Order: sequence, then C-alpha cells, then structure tokens
Amino acid sequence: MTDTASGVSTAAAGPQADRIAAEAKRRRTFAVISHPDAGKSTLTEALVLHANAITEAGAIHGKAGRRATVSDWMEMEKARGISITSTALQFPYRSQGGETCIINLLDTPGHADFSEDTYRVLTAVDSAVMLIDAAKGLEPQTLKLFQVCRHRRIPIITVINKWDRPGRDALELMDEIQARIGLRPTPLTWPVGIAGDFKGVLDRRSGNFIRFTRTAGGATAAPEEHIDPSRAQDAAGIDWDNAVEESELLTADGADFDPDTFLDCTSTPVLFTSAALNFGVNQLLDVLVQLAPSPPGQLDIDGERRDVDAPFSAFVFKVQAGMDSAHRDRIAYARVCSGTFERGEVLTHAATGKPFVTKYAQSVFGQKRSTLDTAWPGDVIGLANAAALRPGDTLYMDTAVQYPPIPSFSPEHFAVARGTDPSKHKQFRRGIEQLEQEGVIQVLRSDRRGDQAPVFAAVGPMQFEVASHRMASEYSAPIQLEPLPYTVARAADPDNAEFLQKQPSAEVFTRTDGVVLAVFSTKWRLEGFQRDNPTVHLRSLVAAGD
Ligand code: G4P
Repeated sequence: MTDTASGVSTAAAGPQADRIAAEAKRRRTFAVISHPDAGKSTLTEALVLHANAITEAGAIHGKAGRRATVSDWMEMEKARGISITSTALQFPYRSQGGETCIINLLDTPGHADFSEDTYRVLTAVDSAVMLIDAAKGLEPQTLKLFQVCRHRRIPIITVINKWDRPGRDALELMDEIQARIGLRPTPLTWPVGIAGDFKGVLDRRSGNFIRFTRTAGGATAAPEEHIDPSRAQDAAGIDWDNAVEESELLTADGADFDPDTFLDCTSTPVLFTSAALNFGVNQLLDVLVQLAPSPPGQLDIDGERRDVDAPFSAFVFKVQAGMDSAHRDRIAYARVCSGTFERGEVLTHAATGKPFVTKYAQSVFGQKRSTLDTAWPGDVIGLANAAALRPGDTLYMDTAVQYPPIPSFSPEHFAVARGTDPSKHKQFRRGIEQLEQEGVIQVLRSDRRGDQAPVFAAVGPMQFEVASHRMASEYSAPIQLEPLPYTVARAADPDNAEFLQKQPSAEVFTRTDGVVLAVFSTKWRLEGFQRDNPTVHLRSLVAAGD
C-alpha cells in the first residue's frame, strides 16, 4: 500500500506488522446466504455450538417458539418473532490438528422479505456459505443473493442441508447447481444414505466414512466416528457402496475440489449437513478454516490495494437505528480492512475529514452487546452513537484512504410517501432525508410528483415497514404509503428522460445520487419498450438477477 500523498509505503513495520498479518490470516469472515426456512438460523446455532461458544443450541436468534433471547429493540421485531437486524457473531474455532481461527459470521436477515441490508452485508465478507434445502434445491432468494456474491467475486461454499429428511437425489442437485448458476460443484463430502436416511458422509479427500450419531433433540454436538474405508462397507453396507460409486462418477466428471477455481468463483465445494441434528457441521467449520480466504486487503476507490498490515482502516456496511428504544441509539457496523483497532483511538471519517471518537465501540453477539477493545482485519466493530456515519463510509488512521461506496441496489418495490399530518412538514422532510442517508430506503423524485410526495423505492417491502414505523415513532411524522405498480428499474441517460417520461409504459425519476431511473411495471413492458426503441440505452443497476 502506498500513501497517495507521499508515495511511500505505509505498512506498519516489524513485529506489529507481523502480528497484524498473523491476526488477519487466522480470520474467516463470511455470511450464510439462503432462502427462508433452508435452516440458516439452525446452522448458525450449530456452528457456534460446535465452536463451543454457546452451551446449548437455540440461544442466538430467539425465533418465535424457540428458547430464548428475543431482543426487545423494536416492537415490530418482537411482534413478528423475526430478526430484522443483521448481527455479527465472532467465535474461535480450532480445526483438527490446526491452529485456532477466529470466525466472523455476519448474519443476513432471515425472514421471507429482505432488504438492501441483506445485500450490504455481502460487501463485508470474504466468502459465503450457500445453504440449500435438500428437498427444494435452488430457491429464488438464494439465487438473488448468489448473483450479488458473483458480482462481488465472493467464493462460495455450498451446503446441502436437511439431508435427514426425504429430499432430492444428490447427483441431481449437483446438476441443478451447475445448470442454473454455472458454478461447478466439487463435493468434499458425499452423503452415505439417501435424503431421509442420513448415516454419515464419505470424506472425499481422505476416503473415510464419517458416521454421525443422533443426540436428543440435536441439542448437543453429534458424536462422529471416522471409519477407515476398509471397514466402511461393514458399517454402512449398500449405502457405502452407493456413495463410493457416485463419488467415482464425480471424479470421472472432473468434480474434485480445486482451490484455484474455488477462489476464482467458478467452482464451489459442496458439503452435506443436517443442521438440526448437528451432522456435518464440524466439516463445514474445518472447510472454512482450511479453504476459505482470510481478509485479503481491500481495494480503495482508485483500485489500489491497502494491505492488511497498513494503518487502521474500515468501512461501514450497515447502519442500524433504534435498537435500544430507551436510548434511540444508532449503531454503525464497520468491517476492519487493515491495521489494529483500539477502542478510544480517534479515527478520521473520510467523507467529512472530521475526527471520529471510538469510545463506544461494541461487539455484538447475537443480540447481546459488550464493549469491544481491540479488533483486527476481518472483524466487525459496532460503533454506537454514530449519527455521522452512513453505509459505505470509510474510517481510517494516519494514512488517508477511501473505499468505494456501496452501490444502491436495484429497487423492485415503489410507493408514494405522503405525510398524514400537514403541520409536520418539517419533520417529514427531515425524517425522509435521514432515512435515505442511513440507507433505509431509496428516495426518488420527479417534477411531476413534486416534493410533497416523494417515492420510496426498496429491494424488499420490509424496508417500507421500517421506514414508516420510524417516521412515526422517531420523527413524529406519520406517513401513508401508496404502492405504485412498478417492479423493474433501469438507469437511463438524462438526455432520454423527457422521451421516456412520455411513454405510457414507464415513469422517470431522479434518485438522490443523481441517477435517472426509468421504472416499468413488468420486465415484459421493459422488453417491449426496448424492442420498440433500440436506440434508447437503459442500464441494469447492481442487483439480483443482473
Ligand atoms: P431459516 O433461518 O433459514 O429461515 O431457517 P430455520 O433455521 O429457522 O429453519 C427452518 C425450519 O427448518 C425449522 O423448523 C428448523 O428446525 C428446520 N430445520 C433446519 N435445519 C434442518 C435440518 O437439517 N433438518 C430438519 N429436519 N429440519 C431442519 P420449524 O418447524 O420451522 O421450527 P422449529 O420449531 O423446528 O425450530
């Protein structure tokens, strides 16, 4: 890394640099991407359970009906029993015969709806686990999130979950992955027993049979036995023979693990699990430690890499307000890119050049928060009272750096926002401005609709609910949202705005970042328009499905 001002290398020197590099090297920062109900919360709990960070499964998410730690930060969240917040979990894990790694698991919201926050979390990870329900295969939300990972070149580990339940054929699932997302599946384990009769896995690297044993309610780590291939047939009979035969077919098809294509995002290692029974979870942790990339150093806005041992830098990937209703606080989650974080140090906020005090740094474990004193590249810091921070903002020490902004993702839901109390006009404007800056919603404007009735645009309708709730409770400016019938947005050349505005199939807006958006009710309308007007160039925005 070089100092843009002086052209001098700014990496920390000597033992401190070595320490930072070593801490970065043992970190794995990842997220789980999946469709709701594929088992993400269950897997998260199982991972933490296996790493011994909690004593019993079920203590993190506090979903409705489960034991435990339901957060009390937002009435909406309580009422629905869902987790709207993305939290960051950190736990140490020692792989078999290996060193202790620090796992940072960034949790993407797991409800049926999702929001831009889900995408933003993926800007802060170095790898992702794509979790697939064995009975359902690839589902829409998994595909959307996968597209974001592909766009950001994030290596993906695939986990086929719920193998303890009747489901699809394993080879057929491999074909589906290859055919629908173009990643070559390279299974590291292969199930012994069909879906619904999960006896264990064939470890394709060692050739061993790893036999799993159920425990009561899956509440504790499942014992596993590593059986030599010469004894595996006795232990699992025909199921072992089938697993070996299918594994040989995979080898013949060139589906053996290859580290280069994994890191290059053209192949994906595959594992089979039952998160509910804690089967296969150790293997996933081992794979994360052995194969997933550690923080690589981050490219800055000019495309220069800032090495992990350069002075401290981080970028904010998410801002969460109102977590504690007693304090109306706001937490900015920042991912450390380089250097060491020490609580109390004064950083520089790159967007304003102003100092930023870090006295209130926190770590967030599930919904519990505690003071965070030190952090290393790959870690997530929760910064409380961070009113000045926005998603995408850079914080640094000593040597200036600016990371690229987080893109606004392509909205799919649109609604006109109107204040219901005309006397609250000022609060209405201020609230909308703040929510937009925080990235809660995108705000679109047009001369036709005027300033009184801005259009909210979102990736998922949950964003509308959050915005509406906060407008009423925080800004005392209740709003009414009137849905608009659009589902597709494209960026347009400002020169074409007038022409587009005259089309019956489109409406044109300007987003606050200056991008002119043409929105259409359906993709067929969009395609029809493009057929009729091939010279009007419309660009896809960063989004699912691009
Ligand atoms: P999500 O976060 O991806 O939305 O999924 P979640 O973990 O909540 O799991 C959805 C349902 O699938 C839960 O059942 C959960 O127990 C079940 N499940 C998750 N992993 C497995 C698995 O490996 N095998 C089996 N058989 N089931 C699994 P639920 O009935 O909705 O809730 P619960 O009462 O069991 O918690």
